[in-house]
Amino acid sequence: MTAINYSDKIPNNVNLAEDRTLQRALEHWQPSFLSWWDDMGPEGSQDFDVYLRTAVSVDPAGWAQFGHVKMPDYRWGIFLNPGVADRKIHFGDHLGEKVWQDIPGEHRANLRRIIVTQGDTEPASVEQQRHLGLTAPSQYDLRNLFQINVEEGRHLWAMVYLLHKYFGRDGREEGEALLQRRSGQEDNPRILQAFNEATPDWLSFFMFTYFTDRDGKFQLCALAESSFDPLARTTKFMLTEEAHHMFVGESGISRVIQRTCAAMNSLKTDDPKTLRESGVIDLPTIQRYLNFHFSVTIDLFGSDESSNAATFYSTGLKGRYEEGKRTDDHQLRGQTYPVLQVQNGQLGEKEVPMLNALNEVLRDDYIKDSVAGVGRWNKVIEKAGIPFRLTTPHKAFHRQIGALAGVKVSPDGRVISESEWKTMADQWLPSESDRAYVAILMGRVVEPGKFANWIAPPAMGVNRQSADFEYIRFN
Ligand SMILES: [Fe+2]
Ligand SMILES: [Fe+2]
Repeated sequence: MTAINYSDKIPNNVNLAEDRTLQRALEHWQPSFLSWWDDMGPEGSQDFDVYLRTAVSVDPAGWAQFGHVKMPDYRWGIFLNPGVADRKIHFGDHLGEKVWQDIPGEHRANLRRIIVTQGDTEPASVEQQRHLGLTAPSQYDLRNLFQINVEEGRHLWAMVYLLHKYFGRDGREEGEALLQRRSGQEDNPRILQAFNEATPDWLSFFMFTYFTDRDGKFQLCALAESSFDPLARTTKFMLTEEAHHMFVGESGISRVIQRTCAAMNSLKTDDPKTLRESGVIDLPTIQRYLNFHFSVTIDLFGSDESSNAATFYSTGLKGRYEEGKRTDDHQLRGQTYPVLQVQNGQLGEKEVPMLNALNEVLRDDYIKDSVAGVGRWNKVIEKAGIPFRLTTPHKAFHRQIGALAGVKVSPDGRVISESEWKTMADQWLPSESDRAYVAILMGRVVEPGKFANWIAPPAMGVNRQSADFEYIRFN
């Protein structure tokens, strides 16, 4: 079951050849996918030989194989983690029953919505990142960008497989629609707002892969608990790929900080203007980018109170993060959870039924995980002997979704007036001039072993190669 057959037109470990109808449907979708990649994949990259890893097995020990390939020839395929024998539903109303190998009719509409929403984010991020190759700070970074792009493409395949196999004609139509929506396009945008924002520069890219790919991790972890076994198995394998995306973000920001701190120490200054003149990104600007990406990403978890979230949990479609490690009753009836609200002009908490607050539960788990990495960035600053510290803004800062959408809150959690917001916004979020400055830094550096001035080289290359390895042959 775990071996992947690469002689098939569509590499897979799901015995695709045994289901001719499904195989034909997916082979029909394949050219549409490739023409989407042609139009919306990384700009100008079609002829590059890129040092990519490809899944050769879903075994934890040896799934990745590295080699130079042209991205349009990447072997996108369908890989599910092996099933667990006698797996039981472990949360919600059906607790203790056997997991589903097929979709119960009453859950079809909700599962379709969950799978389409997840699937939509995958091509969206490729679209958001498609111009970044033109301004890569090094070959090493360019290769990492392309690796992420092909894997997001594979995640799309993963969701389209489920749609084709379990949703018949509706699923095939959804598969087409996933290739038709476009990130940021007014008349046919991607489903979730964070996936319609531009990713105009590499500082945004690293923030996106740190914060927004981490949202992906938490959504996938919640779906990996699903009673619908094929969804659980496919999301488990996607998670192994997601880890690398977050690594690119965390190490990317870390290297930017390292470079900035080195400049601060050699110039003996913390003055942003002086630092900008020397071509590095001052720490307050990094903080503003962080504030933006953090706040936009936590909106992705949805409304703080949601009856859909309750339904998805009770019916067993979507669990909590690490559901299996929790020691409560896994049904949560009669339990409560605190959510934020504004009362008399101040932020406070109120207790609501926990089932309705499961978006908030997942958001809080996500925040804990995000904060940990920010702590690791601070270690880099601390090691350089600089007193500045990065922080994640308050959960209510700059929110567009849920009960907090209508209020203005400062990064330290004070409810403020519209006019205070207007005066302070440029100190809290990237201003036009911040973005313009970062844009100026973005030049293309692609000689092996060379790095743009605003970022330090990585501690280690990819797959134990050196930093000056030829990760990309431009041809
Ligand atoms: Fe993904
Ligand atoms: Fe990702």
